[in-house]
Amino acid sequence: MKRIVVLFSGNGTNLENIAKKLPKDIKITKAITNNPDAYGIERAKRLGIEVEVIDHKKFSSREDFDKTLVNSIKAAKPHLVVLAGFMRILTPIFTGAVKNAINIHPSLLPCFKGSGAIKRSYESGMRVAGVTIHWVEEELDGGAIIEQECFKRGDESLEEFEEKIHALEYELYPRVIEKILKPKRARHPSKRG
Ligand code: GRF
Repeated sequence: MKRIVVLFSGNGTNLENIAKKLPKDIKITKAITNNPDAYGIERAKRLGIEVEVIDHKKFSSREDFDKTLVNSIKAAKPHLVVLAGFMRILTPIFTGAVKNAINIHPSLLPCFKGSGAIKRSYESGMRVAGVTIHWVEEELDGGAIIEQECFKRGDESLEEFEEKIHALEYELYPRVIEKILKPKRARHPSKRG
């Protein structure tokens, strides 16, 4: 069984979607949030996922928060750490210690890094939009890109645009997690067909 730890800060729709779509041999064994008011806490509990709240407001520095976060992650011994709407800037304490973390960002990186990406992407006038999954590295939203999905822009409202972005996220994130944790072995050409 492969273990995942999910980090989130808010609504938690990606957390819920991942939990429901992953195959049985990949499990979210712990979810961690920095926000005691996050609605995702309810979602996680409903799904029977252990949630730990590490309230960033109780720490005097980003580094101290990251130390506690890293310890909590390490205790769960995850094969993969999945950031899903985790709204904290991470320090080298985190990126130096956790090498197996991925993030989803609601734009076609390297465009529109940082917060408010959906609105900025919507207002940019670009004729394509999409989502990116990347490794978490020191630069915010700057780690190596693993996968992207995009769509051609029509005349959608901001709300419709947001819905399309989230639909891509819900389709892509579980697929990429499964691909990372259960890479398909290449088959010998004689066995094909
Ligand atoms: C998603 O759009 C994700 O790409 C971004 O934050 C949002 C989280 O939504 N990083 P939710 O909490 O999973 O509903």
